[in-house]
Amino acid sequence: MALLPILCFPDPKLHTVARPVIAVDARIKSLIADMLETMYDAKGIGLAATQVDAHERLIVIDISEEHDEPLVIINPEVVWTSAETHLNEEGCLSVPGVYDGVTRFDAIKINAMDGEGKTRLIEADGLLAVCIQHEMDHLTGKVFVEYLSPMKRDRIKKKMLKALREDAR
Ligand code: NI
Repeated sequence: MALLPILCFPDPKLHTVARPVIAVDARIKSLIADMLETMYDAKGIGLAATQVDAHERLIVIDISEEHDEPLVIINPEVVWTSAETHLNEEGCLSVPGVYDGVTRFDAIKINAMDGEGKTRLIEADGLLAVCIQHEMDHLTGKVFVEYLSPMKRDRIKKKMLKALREDAR
């Protein structure tokens, strides 16, 4: 297992559209293990492959208190969304230190493969539903700050670039 570097907004690679995972083979299983390790190390509750510069439709999530309930989502397809939506405060490992409101469906159902390649229906609401929608956006090249006003997004971009420059010193 290995910790993977996480791409930071506004890295253009975050806008790559991921391709479907063809087979849940040894390579993908090793990527899943590395992504879980990277997510736990960064104290995140979700990580999309896009964020570690691997552009395949793969997500890991763990919203449990004890960080012992990893959920692996491969090639997710939304099959149902609730009529109700909610504004939730979100953050992202690719935009450290930034939290802002994004409107998401309260509940969703998705079809996806698990870490063993088995297809299953996942019914999610609450935090899990928000998290899945946030991570699925990453797979289409979308970062949550793109829902914010252009002015806010610009301010975040400048803040991130400044932090990068300071890190490089
Ligand atoms: Ni994110």
